[in-house]
Amino acid sequence: MKKNNFQFKEDFLIGSAIAACQVEGSWKEYGKGETIADWKTFNPNLDRKNFKTEDEMELTKEKLNYNVQNESNLIFPNRTAIEFFENFEQDVQQMKDTGIKSLRFSISWARIYPDCDQEKPNQEGIIFYKKLFELLKSKNIVPIVTLSHFDYPIDVINKYGGFDNKKVMDVFFKYAKTCINEFKSYCKYWIPFNEINCTIISPTTGAGIILGENEIELKKQKSYKALHNQFVTNCLIKQYIVEQNLDLQIGGMIASRQSYPISCHPEDVWIDTIASQKNLYFYLDVMTRGYYPNYIKNFFKENLIDINAEHKELELLQKYNIDFIGFSYYKSMTNGRNVETTGGNLTVGGKNPFLESTEWGWQIDPIGLRILMNDLWDRYQKPLYIAENGIGMDEHFDIEKKDFNDYYRIDYLKGHIKNMILAMNDGVECIGYSVWTAIDVISMSTREMTKRYGLIYIDQDDYGQGSHKRYLKESGKWFKKLVDSKGAICFE
Ligand code: BG6
Repeated sequence: MKKNNFQFKEDFLIGSAIAACQVEGSWKEYGKGETIADWKTFNPNLDRKNFKTEDEMELTKEKLNYNVQNESNLIFPNRTAIEFFENFEQDVQQMKDTGIKSLRFSISWARIYPDCDQEKPNQEGIIFYKKLFELLKSKNIVPIVTLSHFDYPIDVINKYGGFDNKKVMDVFFKYAKTCINEFKSYCKYWIPFNEINCTIISPTTGAGIILGENEIELKKQKSYKALHNQFVTNCLIKQYIVEQNLDLQIGGMIASRQSYPISCHPEDVWIDTIASQKNLYFYLDVMTRGYYPNYIKNFFKENLIDINAEHKELELLQKYNIDFIGFSYYKSMTNGRNVETTGGNLTVGGKNPFLESTEWGWQIDPIGLRILMNDLWDRYQKPLYIAENGIGMDEHFDIEKKDFNDYYRIDYLKGHIKNMILAMNDGVECIGYSVWTAIDVISMSTREMTKRYGLIYIDQDDYGQGSHKRYLKESGKWFKKLVDSKGAICFE
């Protein structure tokens, strides 16, 4: 392999990411309100090779009612998750053993404002996150905070519905200001919305939109309205930071979708071009350039979508752009006239004959990351942050023998981080990389525990059974070497 003298700079945010609803548990304790994630179930009969992600992620009014009626017979994994709320001190210590120098975590809105209209925040929530920030500081781990990661509060749904209601912008902005005021001395990097494109892909998950089965035709209209309101909320938060003269940064964050035309036939290339515009560039164009591009205005016109944008909101979009582009990257896909679909949680696309897939059909493509980074940097010239990257596997280790050899994860991470470094050598500015994830968590799309991403193994099954003990995997040891070698290990 060609020698590479690259080394991460001291302030490179190399670390890991987690999300409140996938780790915290304590769903109704310490004053926390319920969230949409607390009402999503695990389906023991799910066929992992053949299921519709949307069905797993969306909740209709009828489905939610069913879950409420049948609560005692169903499994709600996010309610207890991996009990990070109770065990965060030990868990952070173990994460530190994987060498991480940064931790991206999310704050749960419902833990800070269980009643979205209440005047003062829930002190138990504030104290918990303060303790977490303090702990990270004592371990020299830089925090990166997401304010909304797929745990929209039920209280907000009951009072105001989804983010398509402009009133939600007010209550979310109040929550954001509380977090900034309370935690600004600890944290410089703020991501208001995890994977903002999820609002279109799964409006329940991304924006708390729950429709009746006979209202599904409203989905497109409502989700684009909600997305617009989230774009504007990003700007309100940035405006607040600027006006308060705070040295903080706001990140946009999307589930990226690197794709290729299935062939060089111009029609396939055109299909891929349109898909990239609509599913990738659109979000970043608005958040970085400050206006809706013509291709999406045409799409709105053709589909009779009115996003209800007020003049002053369009001015805000123009004035307050994001400071960095965060994105998750797990896989790539193809587009064209004739493609066979393969898996993914948010972005589903066509199979690529040159790539291997995980058991869930996610196609592994390290070079795709380099291509995507070059593309995004050339197009936007905003610093990039790889907010999530990792591989979900069904893992069976011999606990007695303490054999936790996840060599496939090491291969995956090495390939991707190497390509990230190559992209940085190409001239791309990148401020950090977060592996998804430091520790096994509840899967977002299917609520399984079986689909593991962690550098640390938890002896816990899909039903929450097990000793709950934590063990460092080989990938955790490798990650420490990666950090210690400042990336050089990827070229050995
Ligand atoms: C990202 C989400 O889209 O993918 C995470 O931000 C999620 O919350 C991750 O866990 C992996 O997806 P899944 O469905 O396999 O857990």
